Amino acid sequence: MCGIFAYLNYLTPKSRQEVLDLLVTGLKRLEYRGYDSTGVAIDSLDNKDIVMVKRTGKVKVLEDAIKEHFSGGEYSEPVLTHMGIAHTRWATHGVPCERNSHPQRSDEGNSFVVVHNGIITNYNDVKTFLSKKGYEFESETDTEVFAKLVHHLWKKHPNYSFRELVEQAIQQVEGAFAIAVKSKHFPGECVASRRSSPLLVGIKTKTRLATDHIPILYGKDVDSSKASVLPRSDSTSEFMPEQKEVEYFFASDASAVIEHTNRVIYLEDDDVAAVRNGILSIHRLKKSLDDPHAREITTLKMEIQQIMKGNYEYFMQKEIFEQPDSVVNTMRGRVRFDGQSIVLGGIKDYIPEIKRCRRLMLIGCGTSYHSAVATRQLLEELTELPVMVELASDFLDRNTPIFRDDVCFFISQSGETADTLMALRYCKQRGALIVGITNTVGSSICRESHCGVHINAGPEIGVASTKAYTSQFISLVMFALVMSEDRLSLQQRRLEILQGLSKLAEQIREVLKLDNKVRELAKDLYQHKSLLIMGRGYNFATCLEGALKVKELTYMHSEGIMAGELKHGPLALVDDSMPVLMIVLRDPVYVKCMNALQQVTSRKGCPIIICEEGDEETKTFSSRHLEIPRTVDCLQGILTVIPMQLLSYHIAVLRGCDVDCPRNLAKSVTVE
Ligand code: G6P
Repeated sequence: MCGIFAYLNYLTPKSRQEVLDLLVTGLKRLEYRGYDSTGVAIDSLDNKDIVMVKRTGKVKVLEDAIKEHFSGGEYSEPVLTHMGIAHTRWATHGVPCERNSHPQRSDEGNSFVVVHNGIITNYNDVKTFLSKKGYEFESETDTEVFAKLVHHLWKKHPNYSFRELVEQAIQQVEGAFAIAVKSKHFPGECVASRRSSPLLVGIKTKTRLATDHIPILYGKDVDSSKASVLPRSDSTSEFMPEQKEVEYFFASDASAVIEHTNRVIYLEDDDVAAVRNGILSIHRLKKSLDDPHAREITTLKMEIQQIMKGNYEYFMQKEIFEQPDSVVNTMRGRVRFDGQSIVLGGIKDYIPEIKRCRRLMLIGCGTSYHSAVATRQLLEELTELPVMVELASDFLDRNTPIFRDDVCFFISQSGETADTLMALRYCKQRGALIVGITNTVGSSICRESHCGVHINAGPEIGVASTKAYTSQFISLVMFALVMSEDRLSLQQRRLEILQGLSKLAEQIREVLKLDNKVRELAKDLYQHKSLLIMGRGYNFATCLEGALKVKELTYMHSEGIMAGELKHGPLALVDDSMPVLMIVLRDPVYVKCMNALQQVTSRKGCPIIICEEGDEETKTFSSRHLEIPRTVDCLQGILTVIPMQLLSYHIAVLRGCDVDCPRNLAKSVTVE
């Protein structure tokens, strides 16, 4: 999804080349979100114009173009105050090309330039209005409409401040957006705003900030200096003069700012953040009763190493191999293996209410949805409540009935997926209790939930989700264990699961040792057109997730098939040339899985089998197998999904695909 990065240095000398380096690095950190073109805008050398460079393709292409464009020595002269914006675009309106890349401009003179994430749904109406006023459009984007609208307002209200102009413009547009605007008429200023798409502001000062909060200002003509994080000029000696030096980073997510600062403000919908004379202020048009008086400056816990590749070739590979640690981080401080107790701090006060509910609904998209499928059976068993699992998009399409005594879980790695967020708002409006299960502290889903669980898997950069899945899985298992704490009849079962959880990290390490073997299997498979993945019971979710990984990464067709459905259609696909992978573990559905295996082999199918270590009987059915350690049935899915992650990864590498940024996909899908 589109990524925004803007950088403003106030009284902090930086050459244009340094600014451009910062912008390009910011974009590199956002690459994982998925994109197809890029662009930057900085001030021209005489400060009278704005210079833009835009390219189709990767950030590297843009970086090379920038080097060529700004090679002269004058670009290495320091500038005291400057504001630059940058963007990675994931095409929604108009094909990926330079013309449609951001920044989009208001006019040939580059009066206002805009970077935008989201979709302006009424852009056609605004475009018609502006066309009548004489504006001519050069791109197919919805974003250009916004730039031109600000320009129109500027001509109409020459005395308005930059912030007031943007504030007026956002009132005219509908849909979802995060925007950052730069103007040659307001040098050294930045105005940014969001509605439904994420945006945060990082603040870097030489000395401690004067406050942990930024007051919210309402209405027009406010004196923004009253809302400063920095000392005002009339401040007393407790503020050192050098504290006026400040750098601001506007970004779609924290991974783009963490190497500069860990102090950030997450903007809320319809906040307008403006920097003028180095002072950041946050404005809202209308005051509502439940509005807080200030936005908090939070300290990010993320470490820069977490978003670097280290010794791995790809982020996805790193993230797969991080799972022995990430699953422990998910349980850390929550599961006490000695006392056999579990505390989920983020929902503990709501447990009595959850126990009284009518049903549990688990809602998500993609991999997050699969984590719900994977844990549904255990949740039904340990909570004895009806459990519905829903794809957020379909859930919304159906206008699914929701009641006050429903408890709705929203599962999302990014915490920003538009469909999931819309489904959350839909359920909240109907009075349900909202539980967020996310990996991104401060995300929209996090903030809009009544309570929740942070899965603590650490930043996930590869577009295809891996470690977030296993951590979501464990979070839901922990929830099921909490719900059954006082059920005597379930104590033995709980104990068995807790023991399983305590061994998981070690067992994942064992499974990861299959890497070479999986790569060999990938060599057999990578030239095929299709791969069928079959299983049932606790492993059906692995089939769906495995097939999704194969599709996402390798562009091969792949289908996760419920083995019980084999006779109802998919068996027709099986012959001696169709690649098949089957999960056959010693659990309550073993006999049924063996039955399916026999059906496949008797049609000359030669499946790869994922089975339990030492299961000689099952292995006789095929020469190709992957053995995984034995664990409790409801946790098997965590171990069986890892060979699938590895397999899709190796097939993608062999096919020459871009592992971390598969074509047409985005990490964080912030549009419906
Ligand atoms: C995108 C990603 C998937 C992810 C899905 C849900 O499609 O490419 O990997 O599973 O969104 O994302 P979420 O952040 O809500 O878990």
